[in-house]
Amino acid sequence: RSILVLNGPNLNLLGTRQPEVYGSVTLDMIEGMCVEHAMTLGIQVVCQQSNHEGVLIDAIHAAKGNHQGIILNAGAYTHTSIALMDALASVELPCVEVHLSNIHSREDFRHVSYVSKIAIGQICGLGPQGYTMAISALISHLEEPG
Ligand code: DQA
Repeated sequence: RSILVLNGPNLNLLGTRQPEVYGSVTLDMIEGMCVEHAMTLGIQVVCQQSNHEGVLIDAIHAAKGNHQGIILNAGAYTHTSIALMDALASVELPCVEVHLSNIHSREDFRHVSYVSKIAIGQICGLGPQGYTMAISALISHLEEPG
């Protein structure tokens, strides 16, 4: 099995970006945690990050046939991008939505998530471990009978 871990805009700056909100762990470290966690589950992960909406959409399209599911932190596109939501709906791959911060305790404009409309679930506010939890949840979902 293979899972795509996809991160959106500004997440390449993790570690130095508003550490009071997002912590001091870098994206490299998070991706390392994902690869390690996947190994313990006997699956593969491929990690990608882009600051560009179209590149993220292309990555979602390319996931079909190559991966069985997607872990997505779409950053601010979470709250704005119907195009990303449509891409996820089009490929019909199960998706778990992740946010480092608790988007529901922050500004009102972060309370709306287009990704949530197609995700099987959302993990937010738990920092980097949200990603490894999301991988476990996605694998359990894929292994569910029916
Ligand atoms: C985020 C939350 C978003 O609201 C924000 O725009 C981000 C990061 C998170 O991981 O907490 O870029 O997705």
